[in-house]
Amino acid sequence: MLKPPILSHQMDSFLETHPSEDGWKVYECGEELAFKLSLRYLLDFFRDRHPEALQRRFALKAVETDDLLGTPGKCHDADPGTEWDLQKELNGTGWLGSVELVLDGQPLHYYSFEIQKEGGTENVVLIGTKSNTALREFHHALDEYGQTRARKTREIIVANGENIPIPSVSWDDVILPPGFAEDIRANVNGFFQSRERYKDLGIPYRRGFLFAGPPGCGKTLTLKALASTTAFTFITVLNRGGMGGPHLEAHISHAFYLAEKHSPAIVLFEDLDKLVQSKYISLSHFLNILDGLKVMDGVLVIATSNNPGELDPALLHRPSRFDRLWRFSLPACEERQLLLQRKGARYFSEAALDEVAQKSGGFSMAYVQEIIVNALLACAHSGVTPEDKHLLWSLKTLKAQRKSASKSDEDLAERESLGFQAPESRRPGMLHRLLEEDDVEE
Ligand SMILES: Nc1ncnc2c1ncn2[C@@H]1O[C@H](COP(=O)(O)OP(=O)(O)OP(=O)(O)O)[C@@H](O)[C@H]1O
Ligand SMILES: [Mg+2]
Repeated sequence: MLKPPILSHQMDSFLETHPSEDGWKVYECGEELAFKLSLRYLLDFFRDRHPEALQRRFALKAVETDDLLGTPGKCHDADPGTEWDLQKELNGTGWLGSVELVLDGQPLHYYSFEIQKEGGTENVVLIGTKSNTALREFHHALDEYGQTRARKTREIIVANGENIPIPSVSWDDVILPPGFAEDIRANVNGFFQSRERYKDLGIPYRRGFLFAGPPGCGKTLTLKALASTTAFTFITVLNRGGMGGPHLEAHISHAFYLAEKHSPAIVLFEDLDKLVQSKYISLSHFLNILDGLKVMDGVLVIATSNNPGELDPALLHRPSRFDRLWRFSLPACEERQLLLQRKGARYFSEAALDEVAQKSGGFSMAYVQEIIVNALLACAHSGVTPEDKHLLWSLKTLKAQRKSASKSDEDLAERESLGFQAPESRRPGMLHRLLEEDDVEE
């Protein structure tokens, strides 16, 4: 039953409309339980299986998920206070509002809303029922449906939030030194093909890989390509926008629980160094969790990090924690050249692209890409056709930006990892002047 201290007016009004005198039992589900119960699929389940059971459904508001891979996820499309149109294809990763149904003559009422908590908001679902048997039977069916859906839609399962659709990235999109990506793929596939070998050797069937390196050099892009091109289940824990919060440790354990359930599975920890420095989990906590997972079978952990040196060496050099490290270094001239050719050949001459490749030593791949984007944007804003001089101007501007970033004592790595700030030159009014400059210096 509902515990009294966590109060909100939504809870009060739900209790008022579901009084125990009338036979109602009210249950409260936190995020983790709601995830386990596949509650995010509730509407889709009824649309697909029992559309006749739905009596009322109202949306509160759309849920925006700023997810791990940067694509905003959206729940069922509906305006606040309106009915969901179940005929529409729902791109559902969650929902907020109320759903009332009658199954085999038994009413089941769900109310999903957000409460403010220390460290962010948390989703709460209240369930009202008059029959625990009906509730259990229904949740059994919903769980089955949820598991099929997660596999079918090829989502990255998020242990503490809305699932993320797997982005479409091919290995051709990833430019790395020769043999580098192949080595990663061979190790990932090799792991999942070796169940018997691990068993014969009597060692725990699990491994941990670490992708380390400065921002913008392809760690996440490589993960995206892996997720797009393999059938393994991917599970992650978000540590952004307060989503980790005080329950972070529980979310991590839950991620491993799910991984084992979905094995063969890959558990991703993006920005491991930030995760274990967060207010809610320490490195030793994290290690305890990893070490405690003795029975876990067929689970590969992949973590990314900008500063593996700052992580305790214990994390890196112990079997069954992280036993393999790949360093994603700043790109060599050939890699920069390839990226520039791929992205810029339509607009700029080969000679200019080669010149920029040579002069952009120290740039990350993300920054190299920005040279082109920056040039094209400036041209678009001022209505001119892109020419080589714009590309060289863009290189110059970004170099100046990097210089001023380091001058002002701002950590360049940090600056890049936060995404690109709009360069000065993108401000209207300055564009023409800058585009007229021909004196591109090294
Ligand atoms: N090796 C690469 N090949 C092709 N494009 C790349 C490469 N590295 C980075 N990029 C481009 O830069 C973008 C950002 O790179 P990515 O997210 O993979 O960086 P990251 O290494 O994960 O950085 P961070 O440490 O900040 O998470 C990519 O989406 C891609 O457009
Ligand atoms: Mg990344």
